[in-house]
Amino acid sequence: MLIAQVSDTHITSPGTLLAGRVDSRAQLARVVKRIEALDTRPDCLLLTGDLADRGTPEAYAALRRVLAPLAMPIYAIPGNHDLREPLRQAFLDCDWMPRAPGSRICYRVDLGALVLIALDSLIEAEDPGCLGAAQLDWLRARLDESSPRPVIVMVHHPPVDSGIAAMDAIRLQDADALGALIERHRNVERIVCGHLHRSMHLRWRGTVVSVPSSSTEQLQLAFDPAAPLGTIQEPAGFQLHYFSPSHGIITHAVLVGDYPGPFFSPLERLIRP
Ligand SMILES: [Fe+2]
Ligand SMILES: [Fe+2]
Repeated sequence: MLIAQVSDTHITSPGTLLAGRVDSRAQLARVVKRIEALDTRPDCLLLTGDLADRGTPEAYAALRRVLAPLAMPIYAIPGNHDLREPLRQAFLDCDWMPRAPGSRICYRVDLGALVLIALDSLIEAEDPGCLGAAQLDWLRARLDESSPRPVIVMVHHPPVDSGIAAMDAIRLQDADALGALIERHRNVERIVCGHLHRSMHLRWRGTVVSVPSSSTEQLQLAFDPAAPLGTIQEPAGFQLHYFSPSHGIITHAVLVGDYPGPFFSPLERLIRP
């Protein structure tokens, strides 16, 4: 089982650029090409929020067009830049999408031996995230019924601090309530998030929280609490979660760009001085 995770695509409406300078559709197209060039096709693709920069139907339509070459199931959740109803309409052809207008875009799907539980942390027109008591109750039931199968939980807002103060102010607000549920279910192998626009991994409440680089634009790494929030044109990236029953989930970061190589040296050169 190979799972691709792409985050924070921030697709804009055709003819516009992200922040007036970044072509997020072209950036995502490069990610799609990189996924297509992998020697093993992923079994599915996770989109961990901020799919569109302003939540317009045109942006979601553009997102689907750019992703169209990928012949694999796509599972998406909203981020703070999304709008729930246009996102719902854009993925109504997917059987995982909750149909009821206004309902949270949370769902559970089987991925072979794994279970994927998708959470909706969007508070529309606000930047921090919140799951809410009702969704946490729903999650408790899904976790109970999924045990002991390995589970991936996906939620846009990380439930943890990153050390980047401005982002930590807008992380998941009810993280403690989520953590209390997670630590009672040791079969949660990963919580995969977005939002941070930087690769970050840590142990938390008995599981591993994992955030990929953005497919579009990276956040400047600054630990000074007074540092302004800035973006930087470091390489775009995504994650591949490789699952084997013997090792569990192994998470690989993939950077997207044109790099020299691969170079194939005779094995002797690698093992002799
Ligand atoms: Fe984002
Ligand atoms: Fe976000």
